[in-house]
Amino acid sequence: MRRDLQRRRMIILILLFIAAFLLYRLSLPSPQKPSVMLPRKSGLLAEDSHFLLNGIPYRILGGSMHYFRVPVPFWRDRMRKMKACGINTLTTYVPWNLHEPRKGKFDFSKDLDISEFLSIAGEMGLWVILRPGPYICAEWDLGGLPSWLLRDKDMKLRTTYKGFTEATEAYFDELIPRVAKYQYSNGGPIIAVQVENEYGSYAKDTNYMEFIKNALVERDIVELLLTSDNKDGINSGHLEGVLATVNFQKFEPALFSYLSSIQSKKPVMVMEFWTGWFDYWGGKHHIFDVDEMMSTVSEVLNRGASINLYMFHGGTNFGFMNGALHFHEYLPDITSYDYDAPLTEAGDYTSKYFKLRELFGVYNAEKPLPPVPSLTLKASYGAVDLKRCLPLWEVLHLAGEPFKSAEPINMENLPVNDGNGQSYGYTLYETTIYGGGKFHTKGNVRDRAQVFANSQSVGTVDYKKEEVHIPEVPAFRKLAILVENCGRVNYGPKIDNQRKGLVGDVYLRGKPLRNFKTYSLEMNSTFMSSINEVHWSDLSECKTGPTFYQGALNVEGSPTDTFLRMKSWKKGVVFVNGKNLGRYWDIGPQETLFIPGPWLWPGVNEITIFEEYEAGQTLFTVDTPILGKTQYVE
Ligand code: GLA
Repeated sequence: MRRDLQRRRMIILILLFIAAFLLYRLSLPSPQKPSVMLPRKSGLLAEDSHFLLNGIPYRILGGSMHYFRVPVPFWRDRMRKMKACGINTLTTYVPWNLHEPRKGKFDFSKDLDISEFLSIAGEMGLWVILRPGPYICAEWDLGGLPSWLLRDKDMKLRTTYKGFTEATEAYFDELIPRVAKYQYSNGGPIIAVQVENEYGSYAKDTNYMEFIKNALVERDIVELLLTSDNKDGINSGHLEGVLATVNFQKFEPALFSYLSSIQSKKPVMVMEFWTGWFDYWGGKHHIFDVDEMMSTVSEVLNRGASINLYMFHGGTNFGFMNGALHFHEYLPDITSYDYDAPLTEAGDYTSKYFKLRELFGVYNAEKPLPPVPSLTLKASYGAVDLKRCLPLWEVLHLAGEPFKSAEPINMENLPVNDGNGQSYGYTLYETTIYGGGKFHTKGNVRDRAQVFANSQSVGTVDYKKEEVHIPEVPAFRKLAILVENCGRVNYGPKIDNQRKGLVGDVYLRGKPLRNFKTYSLEMNSTFMSSINEVHWSDLSECKTGPTFYQGALNVEGSPTDTFLRMKSWKKGVVFVNGKNLGRYWDIGPQETLFIPGPWLWPGVNEITIFEEYEAGQTLFTVDTPILGKTQYVE
């Protein structure tokens, strides 16, 4: 009897011990959980049909978010939302044009603090795939290449042309040591690095990809290298010893088969699965059906492949940073990079987000997924109280001494910015004419220009309309050509032809115009604050034409995100407290501009608009974006 009791006690003790042990094991981080705390043995390996991370099978559930399209105060919020959706890997490009705005002058501060971005990702338990280019495509001006490269008339972008390789090496000398610290093997979150971007679709120089690869490796990039190509370039984009990955939106079995044929027994990865698409001015807002999206994502995962959602959160092309496409027609991208992605431009949830969360919840090793963070507040602050105006003609002296030349000079080759030329914005070319007649651009205006005779607009020229009539007046007059760089092409062969401003002669009555005074109007922060120092007029005193308008947006309490409704304004740029929000244009599709809450302050906020044609009647903020009439991605 006593023995029986003892045995039972013993059994209970053993069971308790087993239960305690099991509970303890369950409380340990899951071995696949991307915790930066785990002892590290080996980084991401692609030596079998699936990836191994730290020796354990790992499936990449990736999401793209570009730090340069999202204000710093939002980085954590967006990453938290990624984690809660089941994303385990964050992918970002690196924009050379922002990091080296002038040759040899680098900027890695504030919104460009890539080290901070990488350390936050690590802290959040997100692995990172870094895509440092130097060319990144991304609907970004010149695919991220700095415009000062174009000062060399023989420049051959994305090749082993000496001028390009030397500039790339100098840039990588600055960039790569900053990011190499954040590699997996150094305790950081970077598990892979991409070599260039879709080079197969360009493929001008057979030595170039090897050069970029070596430039990374020589600077201590030791993690897995990969290339990424779409169906047009997959045959020629990949490199010996570098994992090839593919990009698509509709499932392409042929691309998967191709990958297996060139690299058998390697993990299959869709580096860019396009969750939506970008928009261009004059088009519609692209949307991609959520169910269609889910069926492709499921298909990819069912086949055991890894995936990265491009974009998971698109953000905004603030400033003049949008790119353009030019195949049959020049089409500049809009300011919003909402992309119809799972998180909206302003970081809000969509139905795509929740459906992906359900699916990724099954595949992610982290279970359960973290709870969905609360929404970021949006507000409507009502009307902007427009107060004053200032015609462009009255502030030309603030743009610096005009450059005098017999022939017109393109913006990149103007002697401004310590020999780096003008990169973005507007350039004004002035000369003197006698009489009127046919003004013809012969295709030399990039990208569009308003033409003025004695400050009176006589019309706009662009790629399609190359001619305007200047009314006959038997007198000398000032002819002014205000050229806007609407954004450099970021994809396709035209990338080789992206100098802006006047890129050759323009004609009056068949004769090339000569003797120009050229003003570089970059609308940079120095210029924008200097215009506040001069005398402004009452609203009633400004007529049509390129004019600055200024007003106050009153914010009560602590500011939240809002959207500026550009109803009845024609075309121009908006600045909030000195920050360039981007362009607006009444041809749509976008009708509102996103104002991030952190760019506002309690009380009075200064709104400055540069309107090219005619001011709208009112200006007000709303709490919901209007991205325009929609169209399914084809
Ligand atoms: C390609 C590029 C990306 C981007 C997408 C379209 O895949 O690699 O940078 O331009 O197209 O959004």
